[in-house]
Amino acid sequence: MNHDLSQRIREKVDIVDIVGERIPLTARGKNFFGVCPFHEDQNPSLCVSRDKQIYTCFSCHATGNVFTFLMNYEHKDFKEVLHYLGEKVGIDVSGVKISHKNTKYDKLYDAYKFSVKYFNNNLLSSGGREARNYLKTRGFDSDVVKEFNIGLSLPTRDDLTKLLISKGYSIDSLNSIGLSSLDHDIYVDRVMFPLDDVNGNIVGFSGRIYKDVDQNKYLNTKETEIFKKGQMLYHFHKAMDECRLSKSVIVMEGFMDVIRAWTVGVKNTVALMGTAMTSEHINLLKRLSKNIILCLDGDNPGQNAMLKNGQMLVDSGLDVKIIKLPKEDDPDTFILNNGKERFEGIISSAINFSDYKINHMREGVDFRSDAEKAKYINDVIIETAKLDDDIRIEIVLKKLAKEFDIGYNTLEMRLKDLKESKPVVQRVIVPEKTHTRINKYQKAVYAIFYFMLNNDWVISLVDQEKLLFPTSEERLLSSEIIYYYNKYGSISVADFYTYAQENEEIISLLNSILAGEEMSVVTKDELFQYFKVVREYSMKQEIKRLTELMKKEVDPLEQAKIVERIRKLRIGDN
Ligand code: CTP
Ligand code: MN
Repeated sequence: MNHDLSQRIREKVDIVDIVGERIPLTARGKNFFGVCPFHEDQNPSLCVSRDKQIYTCFSCHATGNVFTFLMNYEHKDFKEVLHYLGEKVGIDVSGVKISHKNTKYDKLYDAYKFSVKYFNNNLLSSGGREARNYLKTRGFDSDVVKEFNIGLSLPTRDDLTKLLISKGYSIDSLNSIGLSSLDHDIYVDRVMFPLDDVNGNIVGFSGRIYKDVDQNKYLNTKETEIFKKGQMLYHFHKAMDECRLSKSVIVMEGFMDVIRAWTVGVKNTVALMGTAMTSEHINLLKRLSKNIILCLDGDNPGQNAMLKNGQMLVDSGLDVKIIKLPKEDDPDTFILNNGKERFEGIISSAINFSDYKINHMREGVDFRSDAEKAKYINDVIIETAKLDDDIRIEIVLKKLAKEFDIGYNTLEMRLKDLKESKPVVQRVIVPEKTHTRINKYQKAVYAIFYFMLNNDWVISLVDQEKLLFPTSEERLLSSEIIYYYNKYGSISVADFYTYAQENEEIISLLNSILAGEEMSVVTKDELFQYFKVVREYSMKQEIKRLTELMKKEVDPLEQAKIVERIRKLRIGDN
């Protein structure tokens, strides 16, 4: 790999931009913070440094440069990332050949790719007239068919299975990926909607009836190795860019809703394909935006799901707004009946989740009953106590005071009581103490490396002093840093990452070093203190090794030699 090329590319991109395009970051001091995408979290534990061009998670200790970030976040390999960034900054990367890596799923993806084309052909052929009419009456034209890869499964029951078998697929594999059941097709005479995974691979289908038949409206692919309904969101992959642009994501129930919204130009949408929301869904939504707009169906199940899902999202640290549709509508019918402008109108007037929740509490309360009324007021205050915004708190309390003719002070006192007993939500970053307690020697080693990576003169010093680290990984890292420095004349952690990436031992050591606390400047004297600690430790290790060796040695002459070496080590003459 051409190190110069990767270095040139790295210098032209800012890791803060690249990470910031994918997860929301907030500036604090010199650094930027966000919710780490590499483990489940709600706190901003991920620190991105503009100076150093690296990121570090205080919690899960993920560390790296812009390349490793994209490799891990987008599941790409190094060359793919190089291509992506090179094109972004206008550096020619055509010399870097991307080798197509075969994953064990490639053949399964291919079966799906083939099926999509096959279903699409069916729809466009003469046998597809009725299905085309169905789509037309719903207002979905050929653009929609193309964009969403819509197709049709034929009534014949085994065409697709036969075709795939003739292409070399075994009936077992077709059964296992949910395209066939025994020796026939799963999908019979349905309009077919392909379902993508988070990387845009088609991994399943939802087939909808389009005639008046007594069957389930939708038939979905069963859970397979590559299709997990709880881990995917309809339209996720395609919505990524739109969500970044609009800085929000709209969550709907049905994929028909997403398709309809697309026809009026609203494209930052995904569908749960039902009302159930899993923690994997929440992690996916985090990748799209911090601002979540829930727009589920207007009926009771939809409303209840918004309360439940909204709470889960808020608890995960996301900002949640709610679009409340009329009882009889889903986004699809709302747009059909009211048009683009009114839909855009209700998006922009989406209400805060807490307001929605408070409004919702009114429902079903019998205000003639004092007991119910008191309970309602209490519930509202409990909810209000969770708000961060003093002005909004005052508005809610004033409204309550007026409506129920209760003294404002009484309400405020109740709220204060609640707030005082409330556990403080931890939102600040507390760098976790490294799991394993590191000893004095380890600390010295890490410190030396840390300063080598951040100050060129420390590298020279380590080199001059011929400091020998005790473990082979450490010796390797040290000699690689020295080599790198001599070759390139200076060192940046971010570029060194790229240079060392093939070497797993070095990378993991590097990660441990950088995941520690930030250190400030170091003096030469302090460094010599660290050197001393390391040397003492190395010496002890060597004496241990020699002592073991001696025990095994049978030749008295050899034994004497070893004793002499140990003696010399002890007096520091080596
Ligand atoms: N769903 C399903 N199986 C069903 C019903 C619904 O898998 N029997 C899922 C589908 O993924 C669908 C979503 O739940 O996209 C929402 O269902 P629903 O609101 O009933 O569908 P609509 O989006 O309204 O579809 P249509 O307008 O075509 O009736
Ligand atoms: Mn509908």
